[in-house]
Amino acid sequence: MAKAKTAYVCTDCGAEHTKWQGQCVECNAWNTLSEFVVQSAQKSVAAARQGGYAGAANTVPRVTALTDVLITAESRTLTGIGELDRVLGGGLVEGSVVLIGGDPGIGKSTLLLQMLGKLGEKLSSVYVTGEESLAQVASRAQRLDLPLQPLHALAETGVERILDQVAATRPRVLVIDSIQTIWTELLTAAPGSVSQVRESAARLTRFAKESGTSVFLVGHVTKEGGIAGPRVLEHMVDAVLYFEGDSGSRFRVLRAFKNRFGAVNELGVFAMSEKGLREVPNPSAIFLSAHSGPTSGSAVMVTREGTRPLLVEVQALVDQSSLGNPRRVALGLEQNRLAMLLAVLHRHGGVAAYDQDVFVNVVGGIRVQETAADLPVLLAVLSSLRDRPLPEKTIAFGEVGLSGEIRPVPNGEERLKEASHHGFQRAIVPKANAPKKGRVGEMEVIGVERLSQAIDACR
Ligand code: TYD
Ligand code: MG
Repeated sequence: MAKAKTAYVCTDCGAEHTKWQGQCVECNAWNTLSEFVVQSAQKSVAAARQGGYAGAANTVPRVTALTDVLITAESRTLTGIGELDRVLGGGLVEGSVVLIGGDPGIGKSTLLLQMLGKLGEKLSSVYVTGEESLAQVASRAQRLDLPLQPLHALAETGVERILDQVAATRPRVLVIDSIQTIWTELLTAAPGSVSQVRESAARLTRFAKESGTSVFLVGHVTKEGGIAGPRVLEHMVDAVLYFEGDSGSRFRVLRAFKNRFGAVNELGVFAMSEKGLREVPNPSAIFLSAHSGPTSGSAVMVTREGTRPLLVEVQALVDQSSLGNPRRVALGLEQNRLAMLLAVLHRHGGVAAYDQDVFVNVVGGIRVQETAADLPVLLAVLSSLRDRPLPEKTIAFGEVGLSGEIRPVPNGEERLKEASHHGFQRAIVPKANAPKKGRVGEMEVIGVERLSQAIDACR
C-alpha cells in the first residue's frame, strides 16, 4: 500500500498545498492552512469498490463529440414545498447533491424533515441524524403533524456505516444532518475537522452520482458567513442554499448561492409557526417595518431578487464619530459598496460623511445583492444625516455610478407596478426606467439622471 501523504488545505478556499505556509497562494488568506492526511489513490478506489459502486472505476472514459452525447433531461420531482422547488430551480433533481447552510436554530432540520414528509410516498427517504436522537426526530415529526409512516431515520455518524445502510434500503432521497458530525474510518483526524468533512462529503457525493439518490447535506455556518470548516464543500456539490433570517423575525429566506440546475439569487420565503415552516408565496411587502409615521433614516426600495419584486426597507443611522477612523457598517449589503456610495455622495452630492459613523441595515435579515439598492441606501443615509424623513409613501431604486450618474436597472416597469400596487405615491427612479407619462397608476414617477436631481426630488 502506498504511504499516506500529508497535505495542507486552505479552510477558506479549499486550495491544496504540499507544505505548510502562512498564507494561502490561492486566496491570500493568512493562517488558514490546516494539515491532513491524503488517501493514497489505491486506498480510495478500494474503498469505492467496497462501497458497492465500482461501476465508474471499470468503464474507460473516451473523448466524445457533444453531438454524440445522448441528452437526457434531468429527472425532477416536485417536493411539494413550492418555495423550496423554486429555489432548487423547479424541483429536486435525481442524483443531485444540495448543501443547505445556515445559522444554528434557523430551521434547517425542520425544513428538511417537512420536505421528507411531503415527499412521503412519492420518494423513499432516509434522514440521517448526527445531532439528535431518533426519539427527538420522531417527536419533532409528530409536532410538525407529518405522516410518520413513510419517514425513516438513522442515528449514525460513520460514513461507511451510513453507506452500508442506504445501500441496503436504497432510498431516493438522503438527508445528512449535519455534515460536520460525519466522519470516515479512512482518516484519523477528529470528526468535524476539515479533512473529515471533506472526505465524508466526497464519499456521499460519489454515492449520489452513482446511485441516483438525491443527497441533502446540512452545514453549519461560521460567524463570517461561510460554511464552517471547508468552503471546499461548495465546489463539490451541485447546489448551495443558504437559509437566512433575523432571529427576531419569524420570516426566513432560502437563497440559492450556487445551482447547477437553476438560477441563483432565487429566493424562497417562509414564515415560522408552531407547526413548522409555512410558505409565503406572495412575500412582496413583508420586509417593510411598521412605522406609525415618517421616520428619518428610512427608505423603501423595490428589489428584484430572483423572479419576484420585493419591497424592502433600508435603514441608516449616521452619527457623529468619536473615532479617528469612523465606522462603516453594512448589514444585508456589501460593505465596500457602502464606502463607495459615501464617496460618491461627497463628491457629487456635496454631502460629507467622513467624520460620521454610518450604519446601514436591510430590514428583516434579508440580504440585497443587486445594485438597485444604491440610490435608496444613499437617500436613507442622507435622511438620517439631516434628521429629516423622506417624503411619505416614496420608493426609490437605481444604480449609482462613480461619476454621480443614476443608471437604469432591469425590470423597472415591474418594480414600479408592484410599488403602485402597494399604495406608494411617489417613486424616485433612474430616468430610463421611468415611463414617459410620469405616472404608474396613481403613483407619480420622478425620473432622475444625476444624484443631485435625486436629492432635490426628496425635498
Ligand atoms: P431547527 O430546525 O432545529 O434549526 P436548525 O436545524 O437550523 O438548527 O429549528 C430550531 C428551533 O426552532 C426548533 O426548536 C424548532 C423551532 N421551530 C419552530 O418552532 N417553528 C418553525 O417553523 C421552525 C423552522 C423552527
Ligand atoms: Mg438542526
